[in-house]
Amino acid sequence: MLIRTHTCGQLRDAHVGQTVRLNGWVNAYRDHGRLIFIDMRDRTGVSQVVFDPETGAGAAVMEAADRLRNEDVIAAEGTVRVRIGGENPKLATGKVEVVCTKLEVLNKTENPPFLPEDPGAGGKLPNEELRLKHRYIDLRRPRMQQILGVRHKVYQSTRRYFDENGFLEIETPILYKSTPEGAREFLVPSRHLPGNWFALPQSPQLFKQILMVAGVDRYMQICRCFRDEDPRADRQAEFTQVDLEMSFVCRERVMEMMEGFVRRLWKDVAGVDVPAIQRMGYREAMERFGIDRPDTRYGLEIADISEVAARSEVGFFKEALAKGADLPRFNSGRGVVKAIRVPGGAERLTRKITDGYNEFVRGFGAGGCAVVKVNAAGELETGIARLLQSVKAGVVTALGLKPGDTVLFVADVYSTCTKALGELRQAVARDMGLVPRPGAEGGPWNFLIVVDFPMFERDKETGRWIAMHHPFTAPRDDQAEAFVNADPSDAVTIESIVSAGYDIVVNGQEIAGGSIRIHAPRVQSKVFQLLGMTPEQAKEKFSFLLEALSYGAPPHGGIAFGLDRLVMNFVGTGNIRDVIAFPKTQIGQDLMTGAPGPVTEEQLREVHARALVPPRA
Ligand code: AMO
Repeated sequence: MLIRTHTCGQLRDAHVGQTVRLNGWVNAYRDHGRLIFIDMRDRTGVSQVVFDPETGAGAAVMEAADRLRNEDVIAAEGTVRVRIGGENPKLATGKVEVVCTKLEVLNKTENPPFLPEDPGAGGKLPNEELRLKHRYIDLRRPRMQQILGVRHKVYQSTRRYFDENGFLEIETPILYKSTPEGAREFLVPSRHLPGNWFALPQSPQLFKQILMVAGVDRYMQICRCFRDEDPRADRQAEFTQVDLEMSFVCRERVMEMMEGFVRRLWKDVAGVDVPAIQRMGYREAMERFGIDRPDTRYGLEIADISEVAARSEVGFFKEALAKGADLPRFNSGRGVVKAIRVPGGAERLTRKITDGYNEFVRGFGAGGCAVVKVNAAGELETGIARLLQSVKAGVVTALGLKPGDTVLFVADVYSTCTKALGELRQAVARDMGLVPRPGAEGGPWNFLIVVDFPMFERDKETGRWIAMHHPFTAPRDDQAEAFVNADPSDAVTIESIVSAGYDIVVNGQEIAGGSIRIHAPRVQSKVFQLLGMTPEQAKEKFSFLLEALSYGAPPHGGIAFGLDRLVMNFVGTGNIRDVIAFPKTQIGQDLMTGAPGPVTEEQLREVHARALVPPRA
């Protein structure tokens, strides 16, 4: 075989006159009668190869070149010369071409189902299912090769940063124990212990904590996590985290370390200097943006106008405000009236769009969304405008209204109202064209660290307490005493306890989450109790953790970054499947290998399992 001397993206005018060998795929083929032009492609780029009987290509070479088709794998030998047909400025190798004298066809291809080409402006890729089924062809696209390269850079930069900061990279098991951590788990039957099952880890959370008890001090791992949830645009059932944990730290120290990581990564991968990252309390995020991962690239902030709304004639405002009136401010069950002022909305948001908002907020449990416009004369118009007349001055002042504004109102209990408006704010931003489209390199970026989350929230379906981050998150230092002494039936106090957790948000996407952990067994037991676990159940599920914590656990804390989401930012895609070499579809299938697939009766017997249903095609 003619083993390559250069890659297809390497040749420049400095190589003119040299004899070179290239290996790669036929990217394009042009037959100009006597002359044949082939674009040869490998991971590094494309080179033009010319076949010309007058410059050394014998009859056999010309004949073989004539039979070449896109995606055949070839080796070519020849001399580099300045391009006769003029420079191709689109190619890095565009000044030169290789005049081929020897050609070896290393492998002919079947007729490919599609060609690995990136679409030009306005063009479309072939259907994603087809691309996932033949992922090896899709990955040949220059864009996908670029993404794999960026992902590689993220790994390298990550490892360098944590190595420089004294972290040890340690692998933790994939075959793990079923532990209720939040998401549904993937299960694996045991052959040796009939009737027993492993679970795949949702994250290495407990192992990394135990590594702290084991004196490791600083741990990191680029690890796989498995959560049997429905995939979304930025969520896969199998995904990658940059996971870390530190001993003898306070919240501030972990946040400094992760801020340093973000700064290093963005510099290394995107060449961007990240300014000091702003911190925002959960409460402020919810009040201003209605969500704990606010996109702060645009305004449209939410205002609480309960006070003035109470004096209006609007019946449904009053009804909402009557709910939970004796509960403290910010309690999930207390009635509130909130609004978003949309500058310029009167013109841009048509009746059809705002009618849609009414339906939209219903999807989040709110009764509806009232709409008022401010006309050129500054008068309130449409919807509930008449019923607001008596408090008009108050509304105008509370919201800072100006002619041309549209105002969207939602009245409900705190949790529903906040959620509905938080989601509506994002929809309005899209409709108003306020969300910057990411450039080729992703940016511009807007970073935020969100702190002071509540420890617990109510599960909407069961009404039971669930841990807002995970059950191993500690209360914030100043809350620990109140937490340990709290009566589990005192919902108002439980809801008000703040954790020592933190999230990093970029442009409204959560890219990392972590916390200071509980290192005292009695605090951990209290959490399990609140989550509805009896001491026996807690012992059965987590005896290894409780035991480890009882043998000299240092104070510790950590965080995990969603690596796939980091890469999404760097390459400017909203689709997580673009940044994973072999991703799963919306229903968790790998279309290339056909996983999940049926297994034989024999295989099932070996692991002491039985299928309850026949495999679905
Ligand atoms: P958490 O569950 O918040 O924390 O996950 C950390 C980060 O991982 C990313 N992420 C995901 N990315 C893609 N697909 C998913 N299904 C998915 N789920 C999460 C997000 C998220 O911010 N053990 C804790 C971390 C800790 O406390 O140290 C944990 O897993 O970017």
